[in-house]
Amino acid sequence: MKYNNILITGGAGFIGSNLAISFKRKYPKLKVYVLDNLKRRGAELNLPRLKENDVNFIHADIRNPEDLLFDFDVELMIECSAEPSVMAGLDNPRYIINTNLTGTVNCLELCRKHKADIIFLSTSRVYPYKAINKIKTIETDTRFEWLPAQDIFGWTVDGINESFTIQGPKTLYGATKLSSELLLEEYIANYGIKGVINRCGVIAGPWQFGKVDQGVFTYWMLAHYFKKPLKYIGFGGKGKQVRDLLHIDDLFNLIDIEASQLSKINGRIYNLGGGKEVSLSLYETTKLCQQITGNKIKVASDLNTRPGDISIYLSDSSKATAELSWQPKKTAKSVLSNIFTWVSNNEMELKKI
Ligand SMILES: NC(=O)c1ccc[n+]([C@@H]2O[C@H](COP(=O)([O-])OP(=O)(O)OC[C@H]3O[C@@H](n4cnc5c(N)ncnc54)[C@H](O)[C@@H]3O)[C@@H](O)[C@H]2O)c1
Repeated sequence: MKYNNILITGGAGFIGSNLAISFKRKYPKLKVYVLDNLKRRGAELNLPRLKENDVNFIHADIRNPEDLLFDFDVELMIECSAEPSVMAGLDNPRYIINTNLTGTVNCLELCRKHKADIIFLSTSRVYPYKAINKIKTIETDTRFEWLPAQDIFGWTVDGINESFTIQGPKTLYGATKLSSELLLEEYIANYGIKGVINRCGVIAGPWQFGKVDQGVFTYWMLAHYFKKPLKYIGFGGKGKQVRDLLHIDDLFNLIDIEASQLSKINGRIYNLGGGKEVSLSLYETTKLCQQITGNKIKVASDLNTRPGDISIYLSDSSKATAELSWQPKKTAKSVLSNIFTWVSNNEMELKKI
């Protein structure tokens, strides 16, 4: 590890807290700072584990530049602070724009002042939902599948790669993340900052406080564990929509590699996800959650497809595999089992939220 100090924004969140602790465990001499405004319900539960692992917590809001004045030298920033819900912008665009776009500008300014490198957590949602939903599908017993042999730039039956179109509406969440990516590219070009962009599909694992509009696999497991009702929403209401998932440890391995070779990969964009191999429909997730928890709960059906929703998303991460010798290792079942173990070990605390 060539850095002495790293700062993880959104570091009390799911991805930020897990990365902070994994970095500290792998490189005990590294000083790891995290900042968070604790907006996400549940983020407060991460504070004791950050402390136990000798990670320094700073209570700060990235929307406020005065919160970002530090007396230590930031050498690498991992930008994980965001409103990550696709639904969030619908009733309050200003909030998501302030957090996901103005907040990023403040983070980029911090990097400029500190001459810090940056690893940016972006999203597969930069790709427009209409173009994704135009890819022809068939319905099998358990899931939707893409039909092979369609002539679409940036797409194969195994996933969407970095060349897929970005033209068209992509939700305010996707638009604010893409706008942040564009600004990051300018900071790299103009201010000598080194950086990389990771367009992630669904990331899953322990310490994600899954809710109905974000963190779906944890949400599904929590509902099975605590026997709460669920709903298949949209696309016929049968739960056949599909996402790939990537375990947080697989994401850490990738970011660790990126941090070690930022000069070489400066300015690059990577699509990251479990791909077809590590993907599930909601229906299949229900079956696995039943198997793992032994609980069967009622799953209702809502035929109304939510605006901006997509029927299938699979990441084509072959660029990251080829350039960084990285590959996800965890299977879909092992991701869910790992979440189950975490829920059962923290049942009392999780019950409260
Ligand atoms: N989890 C996923 O599946 C996924 C997929 C693609 C991209 N991402 C991206 O990864 C990053 C982290 O996502 P996550 O899943 O850990 O979400 P999370 O909600 O668990 O973590 C985000 C953290 O940011 C904090 N935060 C929000 N607004 C803030 C502000 N103004 N100032 C300071 N802190 C603030 C929240 O309190 C929270 O702890 C986000 O940028 C998200 O867009 C996540």
